[in-house]
Amino acid sequence: IDPSLDLVAEINRLRRERNAVILAHYYQDGEIQDLADFVGDSLDLSRKAAATDADVIVFCGVRFMGEVAKILSPTKTVLIPDADAGCSLEESCRPEAFRAFRERHPDHIAVTYINCSAEIKALSDVIVTSSNAEAILRQLPADRPILFAPDRHLGSYLARISGREMTLWPGSCIIHEQFSERELVKLKVRHPNALVAAHPECPEAVLLHADHVGSTRAILDYVLASDRTEFIIATEQHIIHQMTKAAPHKTFLPAPGADGGCSCSNCPFMALNTLEKIYLCLVNDAPAITVPEPLRLEALRPLERMLEMSR
Ligand code: 13P
Repeated sequence: IDPSLDLVAEINRLRRERNAVILAHYYQDGEIQDLADFVGDSLDLSRKAAATDADVIVFCGVRFMGEVAKILSPTKTVLIPDADAGCSLEESCRPEAFRAFRERHPDHIAVTYINCSAEIKALSDVIVTSSNAEAILRQLPADRPILFAPDRHLGSYLARISGREMTLWPGSCIIHEQFSERELVKLKVRHPNALVAAHPECPEAVLLHADHVGSTRAILDYVLASDRTEFIIATEQHIIHQMTKAAPHKTFLPAPGADGGCSCSNCPFMALNTLEKIYLCLVNDAPAITVPEPLRLEALRPLERMLEMSR
């Protein structure tokens, strides 16, 4: 790329020419969030992708998010800036092993976190995100046990708050897994007035110290609605970009890892996306998400059930 190119201006030109919409997750770099037509959590982004009248969706997040957009909007071109932007939860749950897991628990309802591949969705009864999981669980028959994959921390959190019997897949997010309870307590001692807002992908020991547990959007809403001014944020730290923009007078501290620093709260997969790659995907029409139609139809069923159950 010509280094003198004004990337933002070029992306704006291409987005108009292609009738493209740029969707970004809160974990994206601030400059990508600022460029996006819409920034949101996994559920809001899915709804946007399903409802858009754009011809092209540029999904700035990780691959499974682009895949959800394609499953819900098959006639659109769905572009992702970097095809290698994966997810440790998705990686932890492979179709053959998941199929065997289901077969070992034939009477269970398979409730699956959206952070998984289309193949896993196709083998599931209903998909959830962290913002609708509790409400969806409440609508499921009380006498049926639940299989929950792939995030064991979100699963055990949901089992605790719902009282449901759940068998958990042993996956976890490499970011949330690394927050240290010990360092969090030390940070709280140094900031006694700070409230802790945590994502339910965090281990139980971290959630025990949280004043609020919720999805990325719920965490954002919580810190903005609070009349307190200091917060410790236990999720991927790029969401702090939206917090400081909306409430510049408040202080937001990323939760620490075992070394006391906050580098662990940078998702390396999300970080693969850059302005250069957004520009190039619009120029090249690639990488584009494709999902074979039989698989798409199978994966669509539990996703539509999710959207119906979280209206
Ligand atoms: P939410 O935005 O739904 O809270 O999900 C966070 C996440 O894990 C994205 O990969």
